[in-house]
Amino acid sequence: MSDSFDLLLKGGQVVTPGGILAADIGLRDGRIAAIGALGDTVAEIFDAGGLTVLPGVIDSQVHLREPGLEYKEDLATGTAAAALGGVTAVCEMPNTKPSTTSEAALADKLDRARGRAWVDHAFFIGASADNADDLGRLERLPGCAGVKLFMGSSTGTLLVDDEAVLARVLANGRRRVAVHAEDETRLRERRAMVDGGAPVAMHPVWRDEETALLATRRLLRLARTAGRRVHVLHVTTAQEMALLANHKDLATVEVTPQHLTLAAPECYERLGSLAQMNPPIRGEEHRQALWRAVEQGVVDVLGSDHAPHTLEEKAKPYPESPSGMTGVQTMVPLLLDHVAAGRLSLQRFVDLTSAGPARTYGIAGKGRIAVGYDADFTVVDLKARRRISNLWITSKCGWTPYDGMQVTGWPLATIIGGRVVMREDSLLGEPGGKPLVFFSA
Ligand code: DOR
Repeated sequence: MSDSFDLLLKGGQVVTPGGILAADIGLRDGRIAAIGALGDTVAEIFDAGGLTVLPGVIDSQVHLREPGLEYKEDLATGTAAAALGGVTAVCEMPNTKPSTTSEAALADKLDRARGRAWVDHAFFIGASADNADDLGRLERLPGCAGVKLFMGSSTGTLLVDDEAVLARVLANGRRRVAVHAEDETRLRERRAMVDGGAPVAMHPVWRDEETALLATRRLLRLARTAGRRVHVLHVTTAQEMALLANHKDLATVEVTPQHLTLAAPECYERLGSLAQMNPPIRGEEHRQALWRAVEQGVVDVLGSDHAPHTLEEKAKPYPESPSGMTGVQTMVPLLLDHVAAGRLSLQRFVDLTSAGPARTYGIAGKGRIAVGYDADFTVVDLKARRRISNLWITSKCGWTPYDGMQVTGWPLATIIGGRVVMREDSLLGEPGGKPLVFFSA
């Protein structure tokens, strides 16, 4: 093999499936061509000396709000935020306006992303009573990340809580279904406790542990009957983790960095409705249970659930204030800070943010640094001490719940398909993100 590379990443500590090695990585035609002590004919060198090279971080739960809600975010700003935060690919949720429930709506998102998305991307199809029987076809369309099912209502109008429709959704198709598990009946029964105004600290009281557990239990029962694999998004309770640990043959598990970092009541006192999301941030005992589930391997994926809302919207009195917080840009620095503090190993970070999403959704060519894989890298300085600030946030809504937080560890470059897209907090070149390719499509 001739050693001629388009780009050589030289002198980094490289996180490979076999361990962390001091190695160069040779890139050719957007892929990884060689790993080792490399030189020879190289068009360009990226000096990774003193840096750590991770496989590209895939954020498999983001809400980018286009079409219909572009005043909060769009595909250009949301993916710019991703690239600036060291994220190389995103899977986007269907609760836009209109909801992404048809082939035409999916094609529209893919069109809008062309030439405007900074990172690679795919879009979920939202499950509904109207498209339930067609999901087996829709989930295989190019650029489709799979099916997203809202069992409890959150932002937007997507909701399936009828038993027969849930069974149809799970019966039609083969790919893993991503699920927001909160029990709609219980949410409605208990809504009176916050209706007409309440402190935002009531959010996890209204949408309590039982609300989450009921839906997850119901989901597992229906998925078992249908023989369908599911991915339970943003799991928040100790009880669900105990249950999910007994269903690893059927269900994969996502946790968000915010549920691992923030805890009630402190977060509501300090951040008010900026800490409001669904399912809610809960008390310290749940935060610790989520960390235990990360340590024990029950958790498969960390996803940000990037859900931007404007500060104006967030200023409405609870419960009119919308649920959700930004996260795609802060996920890597925040998690690296947990790595620096010894709560997460670097290998486990990679497993949860790159290999995990690739495995869970069947993303082809991504998730590890290996010859033949896409040349996607999150290049980080594990020692950099930086402060997260609203000024750095590129998301249209312009805020983060971590404003002012000092962290150790920062993404210094984002490389996608062999192109350096971000370096030292600046975007480079033009937006060239491509649709993700899936094994199972
Ligand atoms: O807090 C949330 N916000 N949870 C969701 O499920 C949806 C999201 C949004 O789109 O705002």
